[in-house]
Amino acid sequence: MAAPGPAVPRGFLPGGGSGGAPDPLPEPKPLLELIRLKRDGGRLGEADVRAFVGAVADGSAQGAQIGAMLMAIRLRGMDMEETAALTRALAESGQQLEWPEAWQGQLVDKHSTGGVGDKVSLVLAPALAACGCKVPMISGRGLGHTGGTLDKLESIPGFTVIQSPEQMRKLLEQVGCCIVGQSEKLVPADGILYAARDVTATVDSLPLITASILSKKAVEGLSALVVDVKFGEAAVLPSQAQARELAAALVGVGAGLGLRVAAALTAMDTPVGRSVGHALEVEEALLCLDGAGPPDLRDLVTRLGGALLWLNRQAEAQAEGAARVAAALDDGSARGRFERMLAAQGVDPGLARALCSGSPARRRELLPRAREREELRAPADGTVEHIRALPLALVLRELGAGRSRAGEPIRPGVGAELLVGVGQRLRCGAPWLRVHRDGPALSGPQRRVLQGALVLSDRAPFAAPSLFAELVLPPAHGPTDTQK
Ligand code: URA
Repeated sequence: MAAPGPAVPRGFLPGGGSGGAPDPLPEPKPLLELIRLKRDGGRLGEADVRAFVGAVADGSAQGAQIGAMLMAIRLRGMDMEETAALTRALAESGQQLEWPEAWQGQLVDKHSTGGVGDKVSLVLAPALAACGCKVPMISGRGLGHTGGTLDKLESIPGFTVIQSPEQMRKLLEQVGCCIVGQSEKLVPADGILYAARDVTATVDSLPLITASILSKKAVEGLSALVVDVKFGEAAVLPSQAQARELAAALVGVGAGLGLRVAAALTAMDTPVGRSVGHALEVEEALLCLDGAGPPDLRDLVTRLGGALLWLNRQAEAQAEGAARVAAALDDGSARGRFERMLAAQGVDPGLARALCSGSPARRRELLPRAREREELRAPADGTVEHIRALPLALVLRELGAGRSRAGEPIRPGVGAELLVGVGQRLRCGAPWLRVHRDGPALSGPQRRVLQGALVLSDRAPFAAPSLFAELVLPPAHGPTDTQK
């Protein structure tokens, strides 16, 4: 039983198991009473959680009530049982996906808590399909200052993220992967809460993140899931300790729901790769699918994929799984799956082919482009110690690459290219950032914030460290094995 008591910002309340048998369902309380109960630090039973989610899904909850409940959860926390109940209720707000018997053991997925420049899903879903997996990925839009996989894919003309369960099955049969969004049929209540969290400062709540991610995965009928839990200045959860707490909840609540989940803790201080912004990130994902592109992106893709293949017992060790994913990038089979996925999800097949087989310059012509480019120059000689993703993302959001209101349109061509990498030497006056913008020139304050993202030191040049820090596994899966 969770004690009413002082607010526990963001986190989980002590007490409660990791899923267990649902409470017997007494009469649901009125929504106002549920909000008051959570506001005052009480515990929501299974019936209460279902009543709240039901009211969200059927439209009877007012926006203000949804926001109030989210804030009460954000401030008061939820124990593991409440979180599991919320996960189940969100999952059951839509349809459960069903697959042929023959796919058992092949269904896997990856999800991220959100980062800057994080285009891993665009590469990993087709790479896993090329390794013989079925990947029914239900993904999200940008949340807070972080980018969303669906928004990135929608920068490709014609790409359609809304797919029915029947269409998803066809996609998995024909391609082996799909990347889709919530819809009226798929976890609709999470779609509503996700958008509401984005505009009510309730993104960084551990139970809300856990339930949001796992509800989408629970309906996918997976045999294994890896979650990329980011920590660092530009992550939703800055501290590694908090990220570890979230990782433990994802693994534990997942186990309670019958889902084998591993959580990778990865650093999110510097953007992943060299580009931030929707169309620019698609270009970079295509480079990675060519077997090239920035080493940190490829490292993250192969390590997450390797961990997942190992967790799903399709590889003897993580390193073997990572090598299989790397081979799918190098031999073009992952890119072939990506091309087929684009065409099967609404992109003109000629465009999908041209994007996948074209040169980087041709790809840029085919994707939306911002009207202007503007470069920033290094203010001094130095070694790039750090490129801070958060100020970069905040300015890009102001320029239209992100949303400040739910449902707002975004500018797909707006973004930035990092012209240097961490560890590289930079000369005073050399360009280090190219901003792609649609609007007027950067303001003085915007330039100052962006220049503050470049951190130089007197150190000798060095090799940038891997972003991958640790892997949290379900207890039955043996010791952590990040090096093998
Ligand atoms: N991804 C989700 O689907 N939900 C979150 O809350 C965070 C990342």
